[in-house]
Amino acid sequence: MSVTTLYEGGWHSCAVAAGGADLVCTLAPAAGHAGRVTAIEIAVGEAAISFEADRDGALRQLGFRLRTPAEPGIDRGPFPPEAFPLAYPAWGQDVSQSPALRLTSHDGLRTCYPVLTGYERSGDDHRIRLADDRLALTVDLCLRVHPADAVLEQWAEIEHNQPGPVTLQAAAAAPVLHAPTPWLTRFDADWAAEWTASTAPVPIGTTTIQSLGAVRPCLRASPFFLLATDGPAAEETGPVLAGSLAWGGGTRLSFERRVAQAERLRVWCGQQPADYVLDPGAVFSTPRMIWAWSPDGTRSLTHRLHRWTRSHAVRDGQRLRPIVFNTWEATFFDFDQPKVERMMAGAADLGAELFLLDDGWFGTEFPRADDRAGLGDWQADPVKLPAGLPGLTSAADQHGVRFGLWVEPEMVNPASQLYRSHPDWVVSEPERPRREERNQLVLDLCRPQVREFVTGTVGAILADAPGIGYLKWDANRDISEPGSGALSADRQGNLWTDTVRARWQVMAAVAERWPDVELMLCASGGGRTDLGTLRWFHEVWLSDNTDAAARLRMQWHASHFLPPQILAAHVTRWGGQDLAFACAVAMSARFGFDLDPAALSQAERSLCRRAAAIYREVRDLVQGGEMFRLIAPDAPGSAGRVALAFFGPASGRAVVFGYQLSASAGGPAAHPCPVPWAGREFRYRVRQLTLTSEAEVATERTGDSLLTDGLVWPLTAERTAVMWLVNAT
Ligand code: GLA
Repeated sequence: MSVTTLYEGGWHSCAVAAGGADLVCTLAPAAGHAGRVTAIEIAVGEAAISFEADRDGALRQLGFRLRTPAEPGIDRGPFPPEAFPLAYPAWGQDVSQSPALRLTSHDGLRTCYPVLTGYERSGDDHRIRLADDRLALTVDLCLRVHPADAVLEQWAEIEHNQPGPVTLQAAAAAPVLHAPTPWLTRFDADWAAEWTASTAPVPIGTTTIQSLGAVRPCLRASPFFLLATDGPAAEETGPVLAGSLAWGGGTRLSFERRVAQAERLRVWCGQQPADYVLDPGAVFSTPRMIWAWSPDGTRSLTHRLHRWTRSHAVRDGQRLRPIVFNTWEATFFDFDQPKVERMMAGAADLGAELFLLDDGWFGTEFPRADDRAGLGDWQADPVKLPAGLPGLTSAADQHGVRFGLWVEPEMVNPASQLYRSHPDWVVSEPERPRREERNQLVLDLCRPQVREFVTGTVGAILADAPGIGYLKWDANRDISEPGSGALSADRQGNLWTDTVRARWQVMAAVAERWPDVELMLCASGGGRTDLGTLRWFHEVWLSDNTDAAARLRMQWHASHFLPPQILAAHVTRWGGQDLAFACAVAMSARFGFDLDPAALSQAERSLCRRAAAIYREVRDLVQGGEMFRLIAPDAPGSAGRVALAFFGPASGRAVVFGYQLSASAGGPAAHPCPVPWAGREFRYRVRQLTLTSEAEVATERTGDSLLTDGLVWPLTAERTAVMWLVNAT
């Protein structure tokens, strides 16, 4: 936190009590409204948001701007606060724009006029208090600053004391941000097409990134975006802002530009509006909005966000992740104990450190031979696996690999013992058909006994075979008939929010009870990639699309927000793709395999072994270093090339990955690969490697020559890859 300025005046008086890092300020209407205004500035790194109460006490956002050390305070120029937009407009304050807050009070009132009543600061936590006395309602705008990473978390807490419940139709997570008109980069999604990026200036009107899923927050769109004011976001120049809603359900991120004020962008961020019935005295806490910014491009923004994500958004963010061998694409549901053991031996031989048995291992009365049966019955299939889970963990032990297992504990197939015993445990509406997707239904986590069942299920699996060190937690459908038997008829709208909170409760219980078990987040591929759910997980399965060229683009886009260490990337035989290229792509994220070792030739096995060995050598850099995106896929002039690097500032080591996505004419002097972290005063040893040959080219280079001439690009053929290990000597 660089500076927080609070001054007073206007229509309120202000009593300040400060002690240490804490500062509490209570505001009350000043006698005679003696021309004093109250302003609050919250600064994070080089940026600041400032607010001020107007003559009616409504909160206005004065600015959102980059600060300079010479100009640290609030400056609203000669304009009165009324000239600035409302920060958290409620319905009635400005009906021309989507309100931050929209509700129906217990007695049918819909207008709401929150005024500023207080401001509290405790260290890096800020709370701006608003209230509407007529509605006996308070809205706290909460802001948590992470000064070292220039990251800001925002959320709102709404509470009332009416004689009966209030219904919330919409509640934004954050003040409605007002910023200069920028370019927006968004990441739309579909199954096997996650992280599909597009960039354009925000047009007049409303542009919305929305996902309607309650199970999969990335159904159709990922809750992440970039805004840049000097043209499209660039790696090294121009102010850029990243935003993401940390929520495991439906999101709405909308970008509004009016004809009359086209120079100003209004951003509304929050969960999908729903009729949430809020009882007196209960607090409705919105999901958190995460903001990060950089004055000089996406590279430093990424460095900040990766640091923050490792420390605050994922579990054990400083720990290196193992090389995982998954079975899904190699076997689907078709395996038994001998086959699994053969694969374990093959996996260990390739250099895998953890063996992950995917779907198909469970079900007794309704064995999971395909996706039509068994979900809900989490006992090992006695025919496929007569020695049960302990038989698998001891086999893994013998082969020197850790053991992991696939689960989908929030779901049930109607063909299961669970459904036969508890048909009322699913999300459904009375007298409506129960629509199946992938032959399954969603368990109703709003019911306490279902939460106990899910937590107990995971616990029973882990207790049955204590050698299990990893779970892939999947969720393969969304909610279609949104009814819960745990909610009364007038509160069914609460399901959209309560189901996410209930799921997080279950996930938190599992993470807390089993701190040493690593968890992968998966939902039909990358459907659950969000900064909220990740806090109980170690990594995310980015997509079921494992084509290396598609994956390279997805990993590239996701890396703006998420460190590659948490992006699980497995080498498969998808479409008969080239193994060396697929390995090289997976090696720039959290490396692993998903193929049948028995179907590999001797040469292919050595290639995989070589990939695993090189990955082990550079893992600390890929998983913990600073990322440099060097040549973007499909960028004009890139000639089919992509390059990215990971640099360890403490060791002076780096690994650079070069990929030729499409064929190019090449030429030795054409398009060198830049090495922007090199220090002029250093000397470097550069080793150029490929996976197709043991041969390597080693050269000595000065920092000066690396900075000026870069690395000579050796590739021309489509889907080929090269690696450089660039170490300061
Ligand atoms: C989902 C996952 C896959 C795999 C299957 C198993 O589709 O995304 O990786 O685990 O389920 O049924």
